[in-house]
Amino acid sequence: MFETLERLPADPILGLSAACAADPNPDKIDLTVGVYKDESGQTPVFNAIQRAQEALTEREVTKAYLPQVGDGNYITGIRELLLGAGHAALAAERVSSVQAPGGCGALRIGAEVIKAANPQAKVWLSQPTWPNHIPLIGSVGLEFKEYRYYDAANHAVDFEGMLEDLAAAQAGDVLLLHGCCHNPCGADLSPEQWQALATLAADKGLLPFIDTAYQGMGVGLEEDAFGIRHFADALPEVLVAASNSKNMGLYRERTGAIVFTGRDRDAAEVFSSQATKAARRIYSMPPAHGAILAGMVLSDSALNGSWREELAAMCERINAVRAMLADKLGAATGEDFSFIRRESGMFSFLGLSPEQVDRLREEFSVYMVGSSRVNVAGVNSGNVDYLASAVAAVL
Ligand code: LMR
Repeated sequence: MFETLERLPADPILGLSAACAADPNPDKIDLTVGVYKDESGQTPVFNAIQRAQEALTEREVTKAYLPQVGDGNYITGIRELLLGAGHAALAAERVSSVQAPGGCGALRIGAEVIKAANPQAKVWLSQPTWPNHIPLIGSVGLEFKEYRYYDAANHAVDFEGMLEDLAAAQAGDVLLLHGCCHNPCGADLSPEQWQALATLAADKGLLPFIDTAYQGMGVGLEEDAFGIRHFADALPEVLVAASNSKNMGLYRERTGAIVFTGRDRDAAEVFSSQATKAARRIYSMPPAHGAILAGMVLSDSALNGSWREELAAMCERINAVRAMLADKLGAATGEDFSFIRRESGMFSFLGLSPEQVDRLREEFSVYMVGSSRVNVAGVNSGNVDYLASAVAAVL
């Protein structure tokens, strides 16, 4: 049967990471997939997660299914982490959360429920956006529109262009936003821009769908949730796809949740029933291990304190690497890379052409996504000079 099928091209992000892994050059640098790395190039297990795992091994007595909505500590903890523990929507019990296999699973479940509610909804995507948004959300049959987001010439958010494009959005359309640490460009909305967008979404009757995978890796856990919290204050309905792959280092455990703030408790329960039904028809049950660990970290004050400290240290390192990279690239090339300091999270565009990106890979074994998106966490004091001289050579 399958002889009619063609071989598909490698994933634009994961395929490059695999190519780098296979490269024998000892000087190679992998700046492809968005995985945090420390100064020694390792992606560490958080101590808090390690301790939770040891405790779980001691006390775990079953591997029977989790409830359909997921682990109780996790789904309670994640909505408090996103909204802030004292948020009025939580007190009014108009928030529901359903565990999902990572942020991707959450995006897909969110898209399934949107499609059920309004099959005609257009999903407005930032230009550029994370490439996997398109197959994840498009495969349920929703259509896309684009809004301008990144001004490549000025390395900043093109907020005027964004508002101009969103003027054409219709009531019932979906506004897909990056909660913080925009992937791929690293340029984030300011609090004032979030406020203006919330007003626009309320006036036009748009559903905000906020993808948040890097909370705590831009400025801090609370600051990075500003947009989500403001939208939940200002709008009756907000949908959030959350991932703990990065901010708890649970990448391979596929730990995420779709969190919905509705008009009232009944609306939140209806959403939850739709989301669990969608999950049942796609993969049935949520995976347990990562969510149980995340639930322990979110509900135990000692583990929580340790996790927050470790995450703050990661955030600090990312921002220190940003400063170092901006300086070294500036010195090696004579060009202005100071925008890297102003951006947030793991990603920035270096502003290179696809041909320059190819040369970096072929001549220097420096791997980045074709758009020149780099994972700044892959840079360290041991490889930054080589990277800067390679970039200078192709510029
Ligand atoms: C990335 O953009 O590199 C990460 O979000 C990982 C992925 O799945 O693409």
